[in-house]
Amino acid sequence: MALESYKIAHLSDIHCGDPRFSDELFANAVHEINAEEPHVTVICGDLTVAGYEDQFAQAKEYIDMIECPIKIVVPGNHDSRNLGYLYFESIFGSRYRMLDLQFGMQSKENFEERIKFVAVDSTKPDLNDGEVGREHYDWLKEEFTEPHTFKVFVLHHHLVSVPGTGRERNIVLDAGDVLALLRGSGVNLVLCGHKHVPYVWMLSNTLIINSGTVSTLRTRGYTPPSYNFINIMPEEVVVLTKTPGENFIEEFFFPRYPVY
Ligand SMILES: [Fe+2]
Ligand SMILES: [Fe+2]
Repeated sequence: MALESYKIAHLSDIHCGDPRFSDELFANAVHEINAEEPHVTVICGDLTVAGYEDQFAQAKEYIDMIECPIKIVVPGNHDSRNLGYLYFESIFGSRYRMLDLQFGMQSKENFEERIKFVAVDSTKPDLNDGEVGREHYDWLKEEFTEPHTFKVFVLHHHLVSVPGTGRERNIVLDAGDVLALLRGSGVNLVLCGHKHVPYVWMLSNTLIINSGTVSTLRTRGYTPPSYNFINIMPEEVVVLTKTPGENFIEEFFFPRYPVY
């Protein structure tokens, strides 16, 4: 039977070990995510505050509380501090992931769609700046060639500036080239985190969704902690931004462009 909606839980910037980490925020988010039963959970990095082993172990314990059959996790700049990416690899596996799944949705043209996730490490050890890196471009193009596929790209840093985050120093160094590659490859969705401010851009038919920080009070101004649910439906994509444990929800609707 064809699916009516495909649900992704999208969270970021857990920051275990940070004095502003909140156990209560994370527990509320887990409770809400488990109740929604997403098909996939994507965690866009900054699991820790400084990349230490005990902080990764704590992050793993928290992430294990999320009951979801598929979890995609990438490192953030904080995770790559102090050689933390070594712990990331031993606890969460490769920093580069590719996942090709049966989507369960029937297109208007009557083919069975697939959904493909490609997740990359955009960090550089001990730097806050990020880069996808041209050495990965051929691989990305190859991974995004399959037809009839809803394509999702996952990274920690931003590809496009996010309002309310101060002076721009957060987009990946090669953002222009990466955006062109994603457009050329027909990528439908980009998921990222990093600046603790949620925002959504629609750019050249690619929906770019930033998650806020799910479990810290490392927030900016009046923007509360948050995470997202993304519901992909045959005709549209609905993005829900939610503060853990609060009723406040922001909802955005975007047309769903056909997959090729
Ligand atoms: Fe962060
Ligand atoms: Fe970050």
